[in-house]
Formats: sequence, C-alpha cells, structure tokens
Amino acid sequence: MNKSVTILLASLLTVIVGCASYEPLVSMRGADVASADKASTPLAYAGKRPGTQPVVARTFSTQPPVIPHAVDNFDEVTLTENQCMDCHGPANYVKKNSPKLGDSHFVAATKAFDASRHVCSSCHVPQVDAPALVENRFIGNLK
Ligand code: HEC
Ligand code: HEC
Repeated sequence: MNKSVTILLASLLTVIVGCASYEPLVSMRGADVASADKASTPLAYAGKRPGTQPVVARTFSTQPPVIPHAVDNFDEVTLTENQCMDCHGPANYVKKNSPKLGDSHFVAATKAFDASRHVCSSCHVPQVDAPALVENRFIGNLK
C-alpha cells in the first residue's frame, strides 16, 4: 500500500477510536453559560475569640496549621500593618499567651523574622463548618 494512504487510514482510525471513547466533561456548575451559579452563600467563619479555641489537629507534616479562632475583627494585613504579629510575633507571644510563629518563619542565619512570611493568610486559613463539596479520601501522614 502507498505510504501516504497508510498514514491517512491510521489517522482516520485514531479519530474514530478517539470519538468512540469521548466522555463529555461534567462541570459542577453546568456547562451552559446561562446555568445558574450553584455556589452556596458564604458561611460565617467558625471559631470565637483567640484564647478560647482548641487548636485543630494537623494532618500532615509541614502543614500550616489552620486558624482555630475568629479573624473577622482583625484588620487586613497590609504592607505596614499585621495584627497577627501583635499576638504571634516574637516580641508579643509570651504576654499575649499565644502560640509563637513556627521556626520556619525566621531566617536561619540571623534569627530575624522572614519577611516572605508577612502575608499569613496565604498559608493559614480560618475554618467554616460546611460539608465537603466533593468526596475526600485524604488521610494525611500524622496517624
Ligand atoms: C488577640 C491575639 C491573637 C491575634 C490577633 C491572632 N491570633 Fe492566632 N492565636 C491566638 C491564640 C491565643 C491561639 C491559640 C488558640 C486559641 O486559644 O484560640 C491562636 C492560634 C492560631 C493558630 C493555630 C496554631 C496551631 O499550632 O495550631 C494559627 C495558625 C493562628 N493563630 C494564626 C493567626 C493569624 C494568621 C492571625 C491574623 C489573621 C492571628 N492568628 C491573629 C491569638 C491571636
Ligand atoms: C509560606 C507559608 C506560611 C506563611 C506565609 C506563614 N506561615 Fe505560619 N506556618 C507555616 C507552616 C508550614 C507551619 C508549621 C510549622 C513550621 O513550618 O514552622 C506554620 C506554623 C505556624 C504557627 C504554629 C507554630 C508551631 O508551633 O508549629 C503559628 C502560630 C503561625 N505559623 C503563625 C503565622 C503568622 C502569624 C504568620 C504571618 C505573620 C504566618 N504564620 C505566616 C506556614 C506559613
């Protein structure tokens, strides 16, 4: 058989097999542009005043612990302000009776606070009491 005819037949076969095994993607919202947004309304964060909350067990080593207390009344972290440091920072944690920042939050050589950790909320998140949106079989490694 002519080489280009063989290639043509092979490509056709690939397309046919490809189409037969095609399964449409199903999105949670629905694929139609006009479908209604199924996102639930935002829930209030669980957790009350700091100093009254049990810490939440970690599930894997290197996990940033989740924030067990309320955060609603704190100001946004900005370039110059960080209320989290008022309790958790090295200068305040003893008198505020708060857990100290993790060792990884300090530069090893100088022991100074590592400014790359300034935006606490990029790693530490408050919690809401909500059912999981999808099945979750994660078991962690701290058993
Ligand atoms: C008024 C003091 C105070 C402020 C402000 C504060 N915290 Fe806390 N935080 C605490 C205390 C006290 C605990 C221990 C749990 C408790 O008693 O609520 C804690 C617990 C935590 C923990 C859990 C630590 C662990 O080992 O599980 C994280 C993470 C945390 N805070 C992050 C933050 C972040 C991020 C902010 C800023 C948005 C913040 N906190 C603001 C006092 C404070
Ligand atoms: C890049 C991610 C990241 C950022 C940003 C960050 N943390 Fe953490 N944090 C972690 C991880 C991971 C741990 C677990 C222990 C460790 O690695 O030091 C931790 C641990 C902690 C702990 C518990 C310390 C312990 O006993 O292990 C506190 C309290 C805390 N962080 C507060 C803060 C605050 C307040 C800020 C902002 C000033 C902040 N973190 C910014 C990742 C982060």
